[in-house]
Amino acid sequence: MKDFRGKTAVITGSASGIGNALAHSLAREGARVVLADIEQGALDAAVTALRETGADAIGVRTDVSSFESVQALEKAAVSAFGNVHILVSNAGVGAHEDVPVWELPLNDWRWCMAVNVWGVIHGIKAFLPGMLAHGEEGHVVNTSSGNGGLILVPTTPIYSATKAAVSAITESLHLQLAMQGAKIRAHVLYPGPHIVASNIFTAARNRPEEFRRETEQIAPPITLESLGQIFDAMGRKLETTSPAEVAEHAMDGLRADRFYILPWTSDGKTRFRERVEGILDCRNPEPRFF
Ligand code: NAI
Repeated sequence: MKDFRGKTAVITGSASGIGNALAHSLAREGARVVLADIEQGALDAAVTALRETGADAIGVRTDVSSFESVQALEKAAVSAFGNVHILVSNAGVGAHEDVPVWELPLNDWRWCMAVNVWGVIHGIKAFLPGMLAHGEEGHVVNTSSGNGGLILVPTTPIYSATKAAVSAITESLHLQLAMQGAKIRAHVLYPGPHIVASNIFTAARNRPEEFRRETEQIAPPITLESLGQIFDAMGRKLETTSPAEVAEHAMDGLRADRFYILPWTSDGKTRFRERVEGILDCRNPEPRFF
């Protein structure tokens, strides 16, 4: 899609970070935007800020882990703006994975799967039928991560597993849409190239009671600051990417109809190549932190 004017975009997890930046980028290009997020206060503020730029925007409180909630989002979007052209399933969380995989609380798995994986599945199931039926061109963007989607960070098995699933689901979606000659394109977004300076480190702020962690946290949560200190101790500098940069990569990817919205670094490419070559050579993976 080259011209976003008058198109309708729905973005989950758009009260903050990458989703919010993408809402602003799409609105700047003339799209009407539906902001969807579980955090009501942040959502209200985000809608107000976006409207102040002159954008045509509404907010719909949505919990992507609930199919009924995502169905209601689709209905609200259609009733406000008509056909939906762009769906960005971007809401995502990470638990502070502070113990080995065999000790991780089951509710950490359940919560991250419910948001990161089921959120994407619910988006496809609630929106694709309508987007295909209207017959106009459109895009579905699912937010994955280099961690899980490409390589593995050994300390975060839950997050990696959810993002591996997002990449696999989105690739299947892309292939099936292509086989049908559909006007809807699928894209997998790998935010980066560096860690994105967003609110992901405080994801627990939106953790529902039903997924409450069963055991005490034994290590303090990782923050961008503490990560910076770990890098300092290794004699390296933690580089970050802004949500606005990710949004611009995503816009470029939509304009160019690129499935992989993936800004590589040379180090990232080297690590991915090592992984693929290791698999091709049936070599055992070696532990490596960042
Ligand atoms: P963020 O925390 O700033 O934004 C995530 C948004 O999702 C928040 O507004 C939050 O309220 C919302 N959310 C959480 N649970 C929800 C639910 N059940 N239903 C609806 N909304 C919900 O974090 P960020 O970084 O902007 O995250 C966006 C996406 O990017 C996520 O899928 C994340 O996994 C992914 N990502 C982030 C990276 C980073 O370095 N920050 C790197 C790779 C991927």
